[in-house]
Amino acid sequence: MSSTTAQRFADVPPESEFVADVWSGLSGRTKSLPSKYFYDARGSDLFEQICDTPEYYLTRTELALMREHVAEMAKALGPEIRLVEFGNGSGLKTRLLLQALERPVAYIPVEISASALAGSCAQLQRDFSELEILPLQADFTAPLTLPRAHRTPRRTVLYLAGSTLGNFPEPEAVVLLQQMRRAAGADGAVLLGLDLKKDPVLINAAYNDAAGITSAFTLNLLVRMNRELDADFQIDQFFHRARYQAIVGRIETDIVSRRAQRVRIAGRDFDFAADEPVRVEVSCKYDRSDMQRMARLAGLQLQQVWTDNQEQFAVVLMPATGAG
Ligand code: AVI
Repeated sequence: MSSTTAQRFADVPPESEFVADVWSGLSGRTKSLPSKYFYDARGSDLFEQICDTPEYYLTRTELALMREHVAEMAKALGPEIRLVEFGNGSGLKTRLLLQALERPVAYIPVEISASALAGSCAQLQRDFSELEILPLQADFTAPLTLPRAHRTPRRTVLYLAGSTLGNFPEPEAVVLLQQMRRAAGADGAVLLGLDLKKDPVLINAAYNDAAGITSAFTLNLLVRMNRELDADFQIDQFFHRARYQAIVGRIETDIVSRRAQRVRIAGRDFDFAADEPVRVEVSCKYDRSDMQRMARLAGLQLQQVWTDNQEQFAVVLMPATGAG
């Protein structure tokens, strides 16, 4: 990796931001914590394990979908594009896409974790030696200034895989899509992997795997606060609860307190009532009308939807309309 690349990397969010987010999330009438804090080293590792559980159909379905349709996707995106991915691009999906694209001008992974970014870029550069890779260490929910590529791209495409958009409640998801549209420019497009609405039994199973990996992933947030914020959570006095709410079309994941208890976090006390939930994640599921509505609100149009034959997951192409 070049020294300029190395200089782009900085540290993960400062501890003070973590404290502020935790204090504010636990101070409201209903308690919540941002799901972005799941992903420390152990959390990232547990997430990878979730992706391999038999119940978590999302990852393998999206990958199969990419394998089947990637040539068509690359054709729809066009030649000589600048591909910007929100996330570290370590996955097979990115590789499939990069392989299928016609003379891509540059690949820009945007990722908050410097170490994840460094690792995935080094590996990718080895495998795509001709490709200009311009890693950007940043929080992709904030407005971004994208690095310029040496060659001028015909188009910029922003890619968000894995149904990560679903971790944002709709108003926030629309703001994120608006930012993506702005970053892509007037001729640009957004490519999304989105999990679809389906039988609630399947969705509930995906977030409540029998081996308990998702539970460990959720509760790891408490482990992380104990370590990084000098908190004194007794982990076994809380449990993971994930339930699909069909009316709103999303999984709602809570950490629930088993009893009334007081916890000290970075020098401040917080009281939890028996059965009190802390909302830690939402995972929204979509149908075509959801996609159409969100695209319209974000100044995008729904051009193409690729799905598997069981209609479990979709990869969706949304070019900018120039409005919104
Ligand atoms: C990263 N994200 C799309 C996952 C999801 O399905 O919401 C995170 C996850 N949470 C529990 N299982 C997986």
